[in-house]
This record gives sequence, structure tokens and C-alpha cells, in this order.
Amino acid sequence: MRRPLVAGNWKMHGTRASVAELIKGLRQLALPVGVEIAVMPPSLYLHQVVMGLEGKAIAVGAQNCAVEPMQGALTGEIAASQLADAGCSMVLIGHSERRQVLGETDAMLTRKFAAAQSCGLMPVLCVGETLEQREAGLTLEVVARQLGSVIEQMGVGAFSRAVVAYEPVWAIGTGLTASPEQAQEVHAAIRAQLRAESAEVARGVRILYGGSVKAANAVELFGMADIDGGLIGGASLNAEEFGAICRAAG
Ligand code: G3H
Repeated sequence: MRRPLVAGNWKMHGTRASVAELIKGLRQLALPVGVEIAVMPPSLYLHQVVMGLEGKAIAVGAQNCAVEPMQGALTGEIAASQLADAGCSMVLIGHSERRQVLGETDAMLTRKFAAAQSCGLMPVLCVGETLEQREAGLTLEVVARQLGSVIEQMGVGAFSRAVVAYEPVWAIGTGLTASPEQAQEVHAAIRAQLRAESAEVARGVRILYGGSVKAANAVELFGMADIDGGLIGGASLNAEEFGAICRAAG
């Protein structure tokens, strides 16, 4: 069976002081057995979080990596090799805020995905449609294209060491959550797309849902057949709420 994963994406939130508070709260949580848990702080605080969570079963991930895997002359970027060196074990690739605000393309994201894997980091590939695309009936097409461009370049086997996160853009930070059925439909389509290339990879890959997940709606979402956990934004900034979401996946 697939081991659920709940990851907290802190986005561009935090100060040294608030991060220290959050670490304290996370350390006090009773965590469910059998659920993999991770937090993804801003890069500036990775070291603080890795040190602060030492000995606690919470992995640390980054929110982005450079297209080049190794350190070098690329001002302002952080290489996957440096993230691994800092104690990260996973990295988000293609969060919609980066696709939309920073113009990250499928081609760039495939390079980042490859860079992450070449350094032993697990990529968490984010896919999802905008409200306009959903209303135009393009949801499955958009998601299939985003996923397909990575499968095409990397081969389906790459997904035996990766996670997919489905995040409808209209549900991110808006308080609007996809219904469990809406989410399940897309998750099933993602798994079917992978299954067309490899039944084994499709069976094993974890597909997370993200978009206004809270303790109050997590049980229902995580109860769907193809939802293997969550990528949590706002609610992950509150340790108790995040802990309750993690328990909902157990
Ligand atoms: O990466 C997390 C997602 O963007 C969801 O964010 O839970 O604040 O809606 P949210």
C-alpha cells in the first residue's frame, strides 16, 4: 500500500522568531504512525528547521531548486545538491505560484525535476488548472499536459521516485476546496495516465491533494481512493492544525 504523505508548504512566510515558535509546536505534536510528514520552509530558514527538528520524524523539503543540479555561477538560485547538503530530502517542482507569477514553463520544470532526482531529492511535481480552464472544461487536458511533459522527457520510471501534487489553482489560499469527488476525478486521471505507461509505477506513486485543506475537510479528502495525502499551505503554519491534518491521513 502507498504510505500517505502530508507536506506543509510554508511559502514565503516566517521570521526567525515565528519559525522557532513553529518548530516548538511541531516538536510537541503526537504524530501518526505510518504517515510520512514533511515541512517546506523558505530556503532562508531551512538550516534552522533542519536543526530544530532533529530527532523528530518530520522531513524537511525546499520549495524550489535551480535548473542546474550543482553549485555554480547562477546568482540568486539554490542548487539541488546544496539543498541535499542542507538536509532536505524533497523539493516542490512547479508550484502554481511559480508557474503563474514567475513564468516557470514545463520545460524548465522538467530540468528542475531531473536536477532534484540527480541529487537524491524526491521531486513533488505540482499540477493543476485555473478557474478559467476548469470552467472551459479543460481540467484533465491541462493536468495531462503538465504531467506528460515530464513523463516524456524523464520516462515514467522517474515517478517511482517522485510524488505528484494536484492543486487546483482556484482552491489555493481561497478557502474554496475541491470537493472530494472533484479531486478524486483528477487524481484518478493522473494515475491512469501513469498506468498507460507502467502499472507498477501507477500503483506506487503518491498523489497529494492541495488547496485549502484544513483539519475539518482532510478526513473526507484523504478517504478517496486515489488521494494519498496533502500539500498544505496556510493551515501548515499552525502546528496544532497541521498535526490534526497529519492524523487525518493515518
Ligand atoms: O502548496 C500548498 C497549496 O498551494 C495550498 O495552499 O492550503 O493555503 O490553499 P493553501
